[in-house]
Amino acid sequence: MAGVNGRSSNGANGPGPGGHYAHIVGWGMAVPDRVLSNAELSRIVDTTDEWIVSRTGIRERRIAGPKDTTASLAIRAAQQALEVAGVSPAELDLIIVATSTPEHVFPATACLVQDALGAPECGAFDLSAACSGFIYGLGMGSQAIRSGSLETVLVIGSETLSRIVNWKDRGTCILFGDGAGAFVLQRRDTPGGVLASLMRSDGSGGNLLAVPAGGSRMPASFDTVRDGLHAIEMNGREVFRFATRVMASACREVAQQAGLSMDEIDMIVPHQANLRIIEAAARGLGLPHDKFIINLDRYGNTSTASIPIAVCEAVADGRIRPNDNLLLVGFGGGLTWGATAIQWAVEAPPELSTWEHLRRQSVYQFAKVRSVMRRGLRQLEGVIWGAQTPEGGKEPPHRKEGEGKG
Ligand code: UT7
Repeated sequence: MAGVNGRSSNGANGPGPGGHYAHIVGWGMAVPDRVLSNAELSRIVDTTDEWIVSRTGIRERRIAGPKDTTASLAIRAAQQALEVAGVSPAELDLIIVATSTPEHVFPATACLVQDALGAPECGAFDLSAACSGFIYGLGMGSQAIRSGSLETVLVIGSETLSRIVNWKDRGTCILFGDGAGAFVLQRRDTPGGVLASLMRSDGSGGNLLAVPAGGSRMPASFDTVRDGLHAIEMNGREVFRFATRVMASACREVAQQAGLSMDEIDMIVPHQANLRIIEAAARGLGLPHDKFIINLDRYGNTSTASIPIAVCEAVADGRIRPNDNLLLVGFGGGLTWGATAIQWAVEAPPELSTWEHLRRQSVYQFAKVRSVMRRGLRQLEGVIWGAQTPEGGKEPPHRKEGEGKG
């Protein structure tokens, strides 16, 4: 449908073009054990707890341990979300991992998650939209379900930002933390779930928040490492101004697309970047502070993970209840921003029995065995077939440089 400003959106309160609704049926989160307090940070860089709390609202954040990676956190969050949903990995049609700290350029972190969950050959890709990534992922996943092309989609936001932070830069290292959050989206024919979503970008501001090196433009070299160009660089004031400008307008726009007035919104879950940005959005929307879910004091800015983690905690402590109308809203590097309107229509199922829990753990153990066996089989095939193609013919000779050009 055409959204406001004549731009397309995947909004509407009714079913999607396929006659379906995309419900959030499972949710999960994972954070590393290690807590890094402001006091500890003030021994690393020239800062104080008082400055950090008054300028950002952050008191502590979680930092990945040696064994934590973006994939391992994503897998833990996904397993929890699948448990809540009562959905088995075999039912997944697609896995989207939104992240700015993928394990590799490729393979996609989503493929590592697919393998670890034992989700047989489902689609899997990473989504790069910085801190707006989870909102973008929800938009893509829900649209695929509403159109009727997919039935069950796992959307994950996972980050180990501590690995790309410049620990000498007090303007950025105080902000970020590590963690993961996941939603299971599933097709239903009853109204509710993701009602509308909005994705926006403005690449002219790409330089305001970036990791300059490590891509094809500036590949890793001795110089890039020496100059610290593989770490986050940010113009904090400009990003702050941009964020306060887009948060309220994105909320209004997505609510309008969903056919909801601001009075009908029960809770807003904003990207957890800075308390002052959230307060400015609340003022812009004319909404009380207590309509906003805030947990950045304990986790800092976990980028793509911040919104699903905040949702998980709010569901657990009863601040988000069945049939609540929610707005999720995010912004970040790119520049990107976006929002999602949701009717939280599904009750959490009762806790799994110990037996069911054990059964699920054995499924994941089996996935590990299966992965090792597949690798072994592939190696064996390589030995048996040698240079031959599986069809029996010889591989074509490799083209010599310059051959076949022009
Ligand atoms: O997911 C999106 C990610 N990014 C964001 O959301 C960031 C948005 N921006 C912000 O949150 C804020 O701009 C910051 C928290 C990064 C900075 O707060 P600010 O109020 O905009 O501070 P500022 O950059 O204007 O700096 C004010 C002063 C400066 O000193 P001078 O030039 O006034 O002497 C800074 O050098 O504060 C200084 N400063 C610090 N002082 C103590 C900057 N960082 C620190 C620090 N501790 N950690």
